[in-house]
Amino acid sequence: MVDSITVRDAEIADLPAILAIHNDAIRHTTAIWDDDEVDLADRLAWFDERRGDAFPILVVETPTGVSGYASYGRWRSRSGYRNTVENSVYVDADHRGKGFARLLMTELMIRAEAGGVHAMVAGIESGNTVSIALHEQFGFTVVARMPEVGYKFGRWLDLTYMQRIFRRDEKSE
Ligand SMILES: CC(C)(COP(=O)(O)OP(=O)(O)OC[C@H]1O[C@@H](n2cnc3c(N)ncnc32)[C@H](O)[C@@H]1OP(=O)(O)O)[C@@H](O)C(=O)NCCC(=O)NCCS
Repeated sequence: MVDSITVRDAEIADLPAILAIHNDAIRHTTAIWDDDEVDLADRLAWFDERRGDAFPILVVETPTGVSGYASYGRWRSRSGYRNTVENSVYVDADHRGKGFARLLMTELMIRAEAGGVHAMVAGIESGNTVSIALHEQFGFTVVARMPEVGYKFGRWLDLTYMQRIFRRDEKSE
């Protein structure tokens, strides 16, 4: 790990890099269960919505540019779910296995603690052992496995839900 790697809040100028990572995950992985790539307007709407809700969008930056991002947002829209969020973390294919997701997740957990998040869930395709291992490192445990709820690349996908609770002993407002 070199000193010139930083994790910071995303800016609108980072959206083309975020878009490229997002669309690569659509094209090549079962991390995002979309068949069609999205455009910059889609990511801008996502950025504005997250910012509007005061949720973080973090990027990891190297001297060559943005190489990954992580965020969380509302899990479900009804008011009773307001203390629960769902996270996402993506690193571009050329920079995986270098600890970038760990850097992003470390800062994301700090933001969640500071932001009063009670529970964080991660919906992960069950074959994504890398993401499951990553989330285990950050205190997530598997709470559900839903067989064949998705379909991509000509096959059924199972969804594993992992969850971390931040403040067990506090009542929420
Ligand atoms: C999942 C993903 C974000 C991990 O990013 P990364 O930067 O490569 O991960 P890191 O190098 O920070 O590794 C963090 C931990 O992930 C796990 N991990 C990473 N690469 C792994 C591999 N090849 N095999 C098994 N576990 C692995 C390990 O637990 C690792 O910790 P360790 O180094 O102490 O063993 C990245 O592979 C990715 O973007 N994949 C495509 C999108 C995706 O699946 N996103 C998650 C959706 S739920």
